[in-house]
Amino acid sequence: MKEGIPDLGVIILAAGLGKRMNSSLPKVLHCIGGKTLLSYPLKIARALNSKKIAVVVGHVAESVRQACSDEGIHWVLQEKQLGTVHAAGCAKEIFGGFRGDLLILNGDVPLITRDCLLRLLRHHGEENAALTFVTARLSDPYGYGRILRDAEGKVIGIVEEKDATDAEKNITEINAGIYAVSSDFLFSALQGVTNSNRQQEYYLTDIVAAALNAGKRVGTVEAEDAREIMGINTREELALMEKILQERINRKWMEAGVTLKDPQTTYIDEGVKIGKDTIIGPNTHLLGDTVIGERCRIDGTAYLTNMRLANDVQLKFSVVMTDSQVEDGAIIGPFAHLRPGTLLGPRVHLGNFVEAKQATIGEGSKANHLSYLGDVTVGRDTNIGAGTITCNYDGFKKYRTTIGDRVQVGSDSTLVAPVSLGDDVYVATATTIRHDVPAGALVYNERAENVKQGWTEEKRRKMKKVKA
Ligand code: UD1
Ligand code: MG
Repeated sequence: MKEGIPDLGVIILAAGLGKRMNSSLPKVLHCIGGKTLLSYPLKIARALNSKKIAVVVGHVAESVRQACSDEGIHWVLQEKQLGTVHAAGCAKEIFGGFRGDLLILNGDVPLITRDCLLRLLRHHGEENAALTFVTARLSDPYGYGRILRDAEGKVIGIVEEKDATDAEKNITEINAGIYAVSSDFLFSALQGVTNSNRQQEYYLTDIVAAALNAGKRVGTVEAEDAREIMGINTREELALMEKILQERINRKWMEAGVTLKDPQTTYIDEGVKIGKDTIIGPNTHLLGDTVIGERCRIDGTAYLTNMRLANDVQLKFSVVMTDSQVEDGAIIGPFAHLRPGTLLGPRVHLGNFVEAKQATIGEGSKANHLSYLGDVTVGRDTNIGAGTITCNYDGFKKYRTTIGDRVQVGSDSTLVAPVSLGDDVYVATATTIRHDVPAGALVYNERAENVKQGWTEEKRRKMKKVKA
């Protein structure tokens, strides 16, 4: 038992197709903050130290299952989506002999907080209730189940939007779809629920009336922030939730000492970490499990996915970086592209219009202009001149280029892989290198520089005659 919660089981309802999303993807696999909707209730269920977690999935069960880390999850199949109480009932096979309380979470309510659930469970225990559920007051309650109360304010039931009278539709207190319920009561109440409603579904909300009819105690807990219990049924709600989550994530990082110059256009995924005194400019996307160190500077228009940036890294305006690592004090951009598998050592400079892929570049080396560095290992303190290209692909296979320490690669050189340049090599401008070059050598291509005196004037004269 932890934090005053007795043995707890969790059922997450995730079998619905989500018709209102108009998608071929199951609703719970849509993402906010870079993670699936389902991952949020799952994370919270794990954080509550639940004894067992059952996820009820539907006919696209396999894709939902594959998208989640399986650890400690009991998957339950609801073959036909007959309604939320039917879905909860499918978990009976998992919780048959279970004696404690069950927490039922909607798979499409991602932002519910641990604090709110702890309050729910505490209230449920203290009141010795058979059923306690979360409510909220929304200025626009459209689409939600409305809470019906008697003259004394005691809850007497929940009515769904589609079944509500006009007067009931005016009620602003709504059902969040989050319940604490004693397992004995839940599984005994299932039989009593009918589908005599507009949707012809078996509603979980009907167990409220069932509990009251059986003379059991029913309690409610109101969410402190109504936005945390909002469900996602449409694309519009998905976008709204993404915004709410972004605000929450941005606030967290600002409190942790990160400057966001324009939070409105800063998008940070759930799994990202950022060090103190880092400054982030407008239109920045930090996605996946990107980790950014302290005192970094991201000027703006940056799209980083699964990146590792050490401390004091500077990203000038406009960079795209994926699955790569950058060490202390490196300076990248403007307009640079780091593709997967790149490792930039300390104080590396990668400048305008440089693309790197599977590139390992040693400490202090520079490639400041117009280069493609693909499948390459570069030593330290090497300078790659403007317009240098590693030719890594012959149309069939990819090959590596190796460049040593303190190498000077002249502008407009092409290195045809597989090829290797030793330490201290000097590559003359516009050299095409097809063979390995030993350490300390100068490498250049034989070429004559032909100059024809007076050529331009003669050409112009000829062209004038042609025109006439
Ligand atoms: C439900 C509640 C409503 C509440 C709202 C909060 C019911 C009848 N209504 O409505 O009172 O205000 O949530 O967001 O419960 N699911 C299944 N199997 C099914 C049907 C649904 O697993 O047969 C799952 C869905 O995947 C979803 C959850 O249950 O994760 C809720 O279903 P949904 O259809 O979204 O219910 P709402 O209409 O939102
Ligand atoms: Mg819903």
